[in-house]
Amino acid sequence: ARSHSIAVLPGDGIGPEVVAEAVKVLDAVTSPAGVTLEKTTYPLGAEHWLETGEVLNEDTMERLRGHDAILFGAVGAAPNDKRVPSGILERDLLLKLRFGFDHFVNLRPATLYPGTTSPLANPGEIDFVVVREGTEGLYAGNGGTLRTGTEHEIATEVSVNTAHGVRRLVRYAFELAASRERRKLTLVHKHNVLVNAGRLYQRTVDEFAEQFPEVAVDYMHIDAATIFMTTDPARFDVIVTDNLFGDILTDQAGAVTGGIGLAPSGNINAERTAPSMFEPVHGSAPDIAGTGTAQPTAAILAGAMMLEHLGHADLAERVERAVRRDLELRGTSARSTSQVGDDVVALLGEPAV
Ligand code: NAD
Ligand code: IPM
Ligand code: MN
Repeated sequence: ARSHSIAVLPGDGIGPEVVAEAVKVLDAVTSPAGVTLEKTTYPLGAEHWLETGEVLNEDTMERLRGHDAILFGAVGAAPNDKRVPSGILERDLLLKLRFGFDHFVNLRPATLYPGTTSPLANPGEIDFVVVREGTEGLYAGNGGTLRTGTEHEIATEVSVNTAHGVRRLVRYAFELAASRERRKLTLVHKHNVLVNAGRLYQRTVDEFAEQFPEVAVDYMHIDAATIFMTTDPARFDVIVTDNLFGDILTDQAGAVTGGIGLAPSGNINAERTAPSMFEPVHGSAPDIAGTGTAQPTAAILAGAMMLEHLGHADLAERVERAVRRDLELRGTSARSTSQVGDDVVALLGEPAV
């Protein structure tokens, strides 16, 4: 299609700052190509909650469902902001969207671009994708407390892993691995301790490995994976892992590829029964919000992932190329958020005819 309806949820903190740059770049790349993004902005987040007492109601949820895709910034208050209890926005907004729209693949590419500085002395060529489960695991919200507030309190969080959920995730990861040059897939889990979920993941990977003989498969425990993420991240190609392990590992992946401000993600409903959602991996960064220094690159690259999802791989590639060139020329050196957006726009080049 040449026209798409996009919900924009800028959110809190640096969310609106980086989303503005993503939108700037998206407009600049789509309009000369004759592609229209009809954007509707939803001002949800901490302010909205403080003003209305509402995080995300069913009516808004249904309106969001009607869009072709969602561009999301970040939500969450500062940890020391006592007005907003931790978890309210995270669970009732972000996770509600991921669960409600069945974003079972949380796709998180990690690339070390030329011109960016990894904190590792010898990072090698880092180019992998984490296929993180997005709707299950410890995030399912199964749990509670007994004898709350007493010395005998028992707080539980129960990890939920379904054969259906793991299957469709692992299938996606294998298909992705088979489409890539190195055709390597690493299952990251902790099946030496989390034996129930771990065995389900391992068995599912073993099954698909038979269907995809061209994909080289290995396994790593999550703790060891953090070692290799530091000592030899170039070894990874496609990582498939559960929700919480994937969360932690992708912040680390962001750090080793030059900073969390560069790491994009897609919350993908691969069955396309509801809109997918694209966002930077990072959060609302209250420590730098309002300073105009947040890196918008992650949000811009998330916009590129959205274009690809909408069927515009050519435009997505132009954005990625411009970002790559921008980093090559200027690195991640101190530039204002909006300057980075302008610089990327200037590098988009002429549209192909
Ligand atoms: P964070 O990702 O917001 O920040 C971690 C560190 O990275 C901070 O020092 C921050 O300044 C820096 N950083 C993050 N993005 C950056 C960017 N684009 N450019 C430059 N520096 C950047 O994580 P946190 O501090 O743990 O969480 C802050 C709030 O965000 C919390 O309320 C948390 O729940 C929420 N959060 C939301 C999302 C989301 O909406 N997807 C993701 C993570 C955290
Ligand atoms: C992320 C964030 C979220 C997560 C939180 C805010 C719910 O950390 O997108 O990585 O844990 O998935
Ligand atoms: Mn995270």
